Amino acid sequence: MAGRGLPPVLAIDGPSGSGKGTIARRVAQALGWHLLDSGALYRLVGLAGARRGIDPGAAAELAVLARELDIRFEVDPEGSERIVLDGEEVGPELRSEECGRLASAVAALPAVREALLGLQRGFREAPGLVADGRDMGTHVFPDATLKVFLTATVEERANRRYKQLKDKGIDVSLAALSRDIAARDKRDTERSVAPLEPADDARVLDSSHLTIDEVTRIVLDWVSETVADR
Ligand code: DC
Repeated sequence: MAGRGLPPVLAIDGPSGSGKGTIARRVAQALGWHLLDSGALYRLVGLAGARRGIDPGAAAELAVLARELDIRFEVDPEGSERIVLDGEEVGPELRSEECGRLASAVAALPAVREALLGLQRGFREAPGLVADGRDMGTHVFPDATLKVFLTATVEERANRRYKQLKDKGIDVSLAALSRDIAARDKRDTERSVAPLEPADDARVLDSSHLTIDEVTRIVLDWVSETVADR
């Protein structure tokens, strides 16, 4: 059986806007498991590199930076999360489109991916880990207990992002968002290193016509089946 003797891992992979982050957080909370937001690590490398004036293509320099990142993931007593880089909270900045672009560029560098591998695997602790990303089931945790590949159409993902930004008072064009999402998908699926693709043994779930509660329930049911099987 997958990962016998090690704490269980639920790998949730998929493109941006598929709802992975929200689902991973909900499922981790419901199970009382740890959470790895691997996209945040790539965003942190992108942001830290930009702040230090490192070119987003400078693989060796960025890999050194990735190994030495001074980051902390903190949860305050009210349950809200803080991501701290070099002693400074960077959560909101990390979620920006600009950081997403930087993350996508540094994520295409094999040396950076390699440098982040140990850090990511270190999140696997009892009672279990929900790992959210693009290559959790294919590369980082190939022995994951359960692998879910969450998708949604480009249109649906653009709509979701549009609503999120609108709620924050940010005015963007839906067409531009669609183009941006399609372009990022293309970069992430066509890159030669750890491309975005479902693992052979992943269960593919299309969230286009499902609510967050429905997706959470389906994934939790799958976890119960799989963990009971171990
Ligand atoms: O999930 P996100 O939007 O925070 O991810 C930011 C970028 O990092 C995105 O372009 C894909 C990349 N990424 C990756 O290549 N591998 C991961 N495991 C997670 C994210």
